[in-house]
Amino acid sequence: MPDAAASILFIGDVVGGLGRRTLLALLPGLVERLRPTFVVVNAENVAGGLGITPKIADELLGAGVDVITLGNHAYHRKEIYPYLDEQDRIIRPANYLRTQPGRGWAIVERDGARLGVVNLSGNLYLRAGRPAFTEIDAVLGQLEGKVDHVLVDIHAEATSEKVGMGWFLDGRVTAVVGTHTHVPTADARVLPGGTAYITDVGMTGPRGGVIGVRKEQAIESLRTHMSVRFETSDDDPWLMGVLVRCADERLRAGSIEQLLLPWASRPGA
Ligand SMILES: [Fe+2]
Ligand SMILES: [Fe+2]
Repeated sequence: MPDAAASILFIGDVVGGLGRRTLLALLPGLVERLRPTFVVVNAENVAGGLGITPKIADELLGAGVDVITLGNHAYHRKEIYPYLDEQDRIIRPANYLRTQPGRGWAIVERDGARLGVVNLSGNLYLRAGRPAFTEIDAVLGQLEGKVDHVLVDIHAEATSEKVGMGWFLDGRVTAVVGTHTHVPTADARVLPGGTAYITDVGMTGPRGGVIGVRKEQAIESLRTHMSVRFETSDDDPWLMGVLVRCADERLRAGSIEQLLLPWASRPGA
């Protein structure tokens, strides 16, 4: 174990080019201020709002992101399939079918600390081939003895499933962070067993849209029930995430702090 306790900056679903630019503009200042040991980013919506490409993944990893997590849009861009098998710092939900490209967990090491990152998909209203609650036991068994801390990104629609996963893993992993709904929740806390938890960290993208989509188009679709072309909104981008400070003890958190930063807070603005 390292001398100082590790910390993990986790950033929620980066949406489109504007979300990517917001992340890249705000990340250096955040890193300087918070000095996180690890940076983990969910980037399932980074390529035009859906999926990710190898070029963008390389850009994020080159900008100081240690691990990229994904979700239900993981396979939207076909060119990412071989990249998911080759690059071990980008992961898709571990409970997808074994035949689907990529892997569900990664281990990164920095400043003498070893972090395991696991991506899971909820099973309610999302297409995941295998149950999240049994798969996580198998993954944690594989990580046993190889890591000091573990962060689980549970990418799920239902708050109940995410809250349940938090309690299920309390005392067994360092942090359980929820993604997918793009709306941050106000329940960040360290659970009694020592696991940092939040139901959804929110997104890094346009708060002036409807979970990333231009609001006029989303409203027209909701109002008329007709086919409407969706484009990514460019209205009022924010960066949303959490900083988890790990405890000295393995697999335990000391604190979780919510980060909600407007584009206007970038350096030089
Ligand atoms: Fe998303
Ligand atoms: Fe999603």
